[in-house]
Amino acid sequence: MAEKSKVLVIGGTGYIGKFIVEASAKYGHPTFALVREPTLSNPAKAKIVEGFKSLGVNLVHGDIHDQENLLSAVNKVDVVISAVGSKQLQDQDKIVAAIEAAGNIKRFLPSEFGTDVDRVHAVEPAKTMFALKAKIRRLVEAEGIPRTYASSNLFAGYFLSTLSQPGATAPPRDKVVILGDGNAKAVFNKEEDIGTYTIKAVDDPRTLNKILYIRPPANAYSLNDLVSLWERKIGKTLERVYVPEEQVLKNIQEAAVPLNVLLALSHSVFVKGDQTNFEIEPSFGVEASDLYPDVKYTTVDQYLDQFV
Ligand SMILES: NC(=O)c1ccc[n+]([C@@H]2O[C@H](COP(=O)([O-])OP(=O)(O)OC[C@H]3O[C@@H](n4cnc5c(N)ncnc54)[C@H](OP(=O)(O)O)[C@@H]3O)[C@@H](O)[C@H]2O)c1
Repeated sequence: MAEKSKVLVIGGTGYIGKFIVEASAKYGHPTFALVREPTLSNPAKAKIVEGFKSLGVNLVHGDIHDQENLLSAVNKVDVVISAVGSKQLQDQDKIVAAIEAAGNIKRFLPSEFGTDVDRVHAVEPAKTMFALKAKIRRLVEAEGIPRTYASSNLFAGYFLSTLSQPGATAPPRDKVVILGDGNAKAVFNKEEDIGTYTIKAVDDPRTLNKILYIRPPANAYSLNDLVSLWERKIGKTLERVYVPEEQVLKNIQEAAVPLNVLLALSHSVFVKGDQTNFEIEPSFGVEASDLYPDVKYTTVDQYLDQFV
């Protein structure tokens, strides 16, 4: 069997990055995590880093704004995965510069992990955030860097555990607010599965210069169907409050940061159906559960059981 690529994760101490680092180590890739030194004095983050060490992950101290350290980290590996957060999206040009300078990178995965930013119908402020990711795509393509864009759709921990009710910490039991008519399908994936599929893709020629859509059939649900599924599980009918699109748009304009961002993202996903309103064509994309049928992903149905 071919040797597994060495993987560097930038943003490994972040929400989704942690799962990617863990999957990389679990699947036998020599794994490196770029960690900012001051982060180690944060107890919660230090715990994550201790967990990495116990998995044999190599820690590299650095920062995307420190080109020397970044280049030395990139020089150690074959694959670079960025999982930096929304505030650092535009600074990924520094990562691209380091990859170019190093010249040894077989695959780069920029920070995506959401909706396919080239196929969205978003309003502000989500539109600008998506545009930042698209801009990095264009830069990577212009430089001819081998790449994969991991379009993981919704993180279950944020959007499924709450049935996408802003501010909630568990699925609602009395009343649920549904944006639009509730018929557009969104895709909810457990974070561990996103880590697994992302790592499976890094050495796979089928994902080279393609978008890896994590859209497993059992995880595409409309809010109407999701609420019905939850109702069956708890044996209770919820009051459904529908918010027409014009009102959603008005609410976005009137909301403050960060609620306006969340509402605008939700408008794209749940009103416009941007995670499922197109076919995945072989010319630009592949679907993860199709490529890796051996991965037993957690379905939406299974995931909700923990909250009953
Ligand atoms: N699909 C969804 O439901 C969903 C939801 C949320 C986010 N996302 C997407 O997922 C991606 C990751 O977001 P996230 O929320 O997981 O990120 P996050 O939790 O904000 O973590 C950001 C990571 O970047 C690191 N970082 C920040 N500044 C850095 C710097 N100057 N140099 C090096 N590392 C730096 C942070 O390090 P420290 O630990 O040192 O701060 C942290 O590890 C983004 O593209 C975001 O849009 C998707």
